[in-house]
Amino acid sequence: MSLILSKAAKYIKSNFRGSSDLYRPEFHFSAPLGWLNDPNGLIFFQKQFHLFYQYNPYATKWGNMHWGHAVSRDLLHWQNLMPALAPDEDYDRSGAFSGSAIERGGLLYLMYTGHVVLADGSVTETQNIAYSLDGLNFKKYEKNPVIAADKLPEGASRSDFRDPKIIHHDGHYYAVIASTAHAQGQILLYRSDDLLDWQYFSTIFSNRPELGMMAECPDLFQLDDQYALVFSAIVGPDLPNAVYLALGDLDWSTGHFQLNKISILDQGQDFYAPQSFSYQGQRIMIPWLRNNDLVNYLSDGKHSWNGQMGIPRELSLANGALIQRPVLELGQNESNSPFRLSSKHSIAFLDTLILNSNSGLAVGDRLLLTGGQEKIELSRQTNSDYELNLTLVSSKRRINIMSTSDKDQVLILLLDRSSLELFIDNTGVASVVLYPERPWEKISYFGTSKFTGRIINLENLK
Ligand code: FRU
Repeated sequence: MSLILSKAAKYIKSNFRGSSDLYRPEFHFSAPLGWLNDPNGLIFFQKQFHLFYQYNPYATKWGNMHWGHAVSRDLLHWQNLMPALAPDEDYDRSGAFSGSAIERGGLLYLMYTGHVVLADGSVTETQNIAYSLDGLNFKKYEKNPVIAADKLPEGASRSDFRDPKIIHHDGHYYAVIASTAHAQGQILLYRSDDLLDWQYFSTIFSNRPELGMMAECPDLFQLDDQYALVFSAIVGPDLPNAVYLALGDLDWSTGHFQLNKISILDQGQDFYAPQSFSYQGQRIMIPWLRNNDLVNYLSDGKHSWNGQMGIPRELSLANGALIQRPVLELGQNESNSPFRLSSKHSIAFLDTLILNSNSGLAVGDRLLLTGGQEKIELSRQTNSDYELNLTLVSSKRRINIMSTSDKDQVLILLLDRSSLELFIDNTGVASVVLYPERPWEKISYFGTSKFTGRIINLENLK
């Protein structure tokens, strides 16, 4: 273990101040202390799920990126471990940036970006490998970097070249990597037979307005009979963090991607840098929940941590339409007895809530959560349109959510202490970060029919 890595481990042990905090998530992953951003290296390896993450142990603001590490057996309860990677080599000395994981010959390989800021302020980014036998202790490859500027195609910038996501196909390894050319985002595809020797293969996606100035954290995977390319675009001040899912056909012999359809993945604005992995045939994705304006809200000295992951969600296609389902066993057992809400009746709850309703809201219905002067209001405007209104001291926001099915819709609402995720019929999905002044108090329903749902106790979640 390098000195820089053991220093981080010691620092975390001796500075952890416990997790009690008004905003500390109950059922979302957050780091014990310090700053967290992108999920990295998601994989099921040696009987457990591994979640690595962009991590600054020393401050509640972004900087000095390490790879934090946590493991889980159910994707819900996480055990945090000591960091896996530190910026301790020449080629990653300004940060071990985002990347991914893959298993080969019983070893766990990580591929990540080494970020280097030179004395004159210029930046170089390269791709590097670390590997492990036990999934806990990692060794950086002696011949890093495995992809440096000499392997960039014509016109590609050496300072925006990051976030490799590895995929295995037909005996070869491929990595999609974020890049820019002439200040516009593009996604490159590299190829290797052994994860160590890489060659540029194609520019898989470029010349699209959705790619913005840079398209970070690209991901590539098969969904049904199509390929999905996901990326987090930096578009400009009005739409700073749009995460797109592009569906198309991929010709593996040329690396050409033929786009069929492109859409936004999450309608809530606070969903960024997601990464996916495959588990037993399911495609599971975990995002970083971040709000652009509130990203440093917890960096005021009163909180010792900042940043959380979204609930893992399973992605699939049904008749070509994207379905996103939270990966939570909502345990519909006796102890989660159903309740009925009518406008005369509200239900008290504490600061977190998991609500699962099979009957959903009828058009014109409203669901209201209140605490003091603050409120969260969800209303169904038409068959397919919902409106989410947040009136909080820290932020006032209105979010439109479109759901593609028009039947009686299943509604899943996951409210943690500083985030809210809504799944409307698993087609209208919205993630929001919020910092209420005080705990929520009650939930009420306004509408003509009765609203039936179940409040799930955390203990009953699997
Ligand atoms: C996305 C991102 C990545 C980069 C990492 C650095 O949030 O900017 O592109 O690798 O964060 O922490």
